[in-house]
Amino acid sequence: MESFSPADPSTALMDHDHLAASFRTVRDFTFQLCEPLEPEDCCIQSMPDVSPTRWHLAHTTWFFEQFLLAPRGGYQAFDPQFAFLFNSYYNTVGVQFPRGQRGLLSRPTVAQVWDYRRAVDGAVLDAVADETRPLSAEQREVLLLGLHHEQQHQELLLTDLKHVLAQNPLRPQYRPGTFSSGHPAPPLAWRDFPEGIVEIGFSGDGFSYDNESPRHRVFLESFRLANRLTTCGEYAEFIADNGYQRPELWLSAGWATCCEQQWSAPLYWFRDGTGPW
Ligand SMILES: [Fe+2]
Repeated sequence: MESFSPADPSTALMDHDHLAASFRTVRDFTFQLCEPLEPEDCCIQSMPDVSPTRWHLAHTTWFFEQFLLAPRGGYQAFDPQFAFLFNSYYNTVGVQFPRGQRGLLSRPTVAQVWDYRRAVDGAVLDAVADETRPLSAEQREVLLLGLHHEQQHQELLLTDLKHVLAQNPLRPQYRPGTFSSGHPAPPLAWRDFPEGIVEIGFSGDGFSYDNESPRHRVFLESFRLANRLTTCGEYAEFIADNGYQRPELWLSAGWATCCEQQWSAPLYWFRDGTGPW
């Protein structure tokens, strides 16, 4: 994920310009993520846990409408039926369209959802700039929360899209090209961490979700952690070393799933014929 500095929405106390810039940056980034896509890509729900791209686009927009614009008053919903379609887990806000059926909708169209986003973007930026009725501290926090919520959905959008595109035997690429760090991974080493009482949870002045606080103490057993991530090359060695046939290398629940699902490689790995992955 790209950096959002200097319009990073992690700062709690933002002036109007900064708030508007953060809003534009986050909303524009969602648009950039969708630029390689065709409307057909945006409507597919490849399994119940996947939401169509169009749903992410509308749901994140509905959040600002429902929790910022509507409570401020003087705002008319873009389409009152969208609340039913694009609400998700907010049970207190009313009934919801079933999650597993999000891929059955052909309307609103992707183009209508982009219209919806533009309309709500305009209304939010008007509200931020409204000097006669400035945003209250609570409304600024809601706006900030909405930006973090949208960034969560940017990750979800990509995760879901990966599964969607992987269903297609034509193997459509999200963005054509090959990716390389350009340099070999540093040698792998293990770092030891002693047992003890540690503090976890958020502390500070910036934004945090309510499930990240209060900061509190927990006891940690000693553990070791590698100094870097596993490379794809190392994982290919694990497969070549019969890693998927050796129960001693798995925790029991993982091994049970491996056998049940007949795993032999990571979900998105395919062999080029009998050659390399
Ligand atoms: Fe959400």
